[in-house]
Amino acid sequence: MQYRLLKPELGHRLPSVNSTNEWIRNPEIPFGSWVIAEEQTEGKGRGNNIWQSLGEEPLIFSGKLRLSAAEISLPLLSIFVSSALLKTIFAFFPDREEDTTIKWPNDIYKHEKKVAGILVQSEFTNGVYDVVIGIGLNFFGNLIPEPLIDKATYLCESKMGEGELERFVNHLVIEINQAVINLLDPSQVMKDLVWIEAHSLLKNKVIEAEWEERIVRGRVLGIDELGFLLIMTETGQKIELMDTSPKFRMI
Ligand code: BTN
Repeated sequence: MQYRLLKPELGHRLPSVNSTNEWIRNPEIPFGSWVIAEEQTEGKGRGNNIWQSLGEEPLIFSGKLRLSAAEISLPLLSIFVSSALLKTIFAFFPDREEDTTIKWPNDIYKHEKKVAGILVQSEFTNGVYDVVIGIGLNFFGNLIPEPLIDKATYLCESKMGEGELERFVNHLVIEINQAVINLLDPSQVMKDLVWIEAHSLLKNKVIEAEWEERIVRGRVLGIDELGFLLIMTETGQKIELMDTSPKFRMI
């Protein structure tokens, strides 16, 4: 099939929108399009969460792709999009290599606080995934709302330069396309997983999670080739998690 990667020339910039993920799902918006917004009034997070962008000039981005379902594992796509975002962050802010990581499956953390979240939504028809990738990233600000103080932070310690957000997004579009191309090549998948593991917040951490209707505790072994998180439980059982549940936590 013909892949529909993001097209650099199909970008839109909106002053305000309910949700960029919703806006781009409109069937009149062609595959390959992407959008950034200055403000979102009903930003969506994973599960039933809302997404509240913080600070000055946050990144509010969505892109629309069409991919062959036979060749793509969606959990792996999520984690590869996280790596595309982290690579873009490192290209623009090299100091962040010291403290910024991927928190499986699709968040970016600076130290132990979240700076970015990714929401991948997909529809399956006739062997094809229509995928919307949404990314929210808080670049810089002075205030964190009280309920988020222990959970969220800003990526940068100073304001973005003139035109830097646009340059960041252009780079991100290329990195997302490269991540999708890499996903189609098994030897490249293994190489990228090695990179992701090296930049994974959860590597070797002890976590607690819901699994088969009970709470299990164990040490993270890594991420497998389908994008699942491998855990060695306290009782010596090897299990794999497909996603975090509300009870997922680092110990
Ligand atoms: C999460 O961490 O729960 C995912 C957050 C994803 C937020 C982004 S902002 C751009 C795009 N539009 C939305 O409504 N949500 C995503």
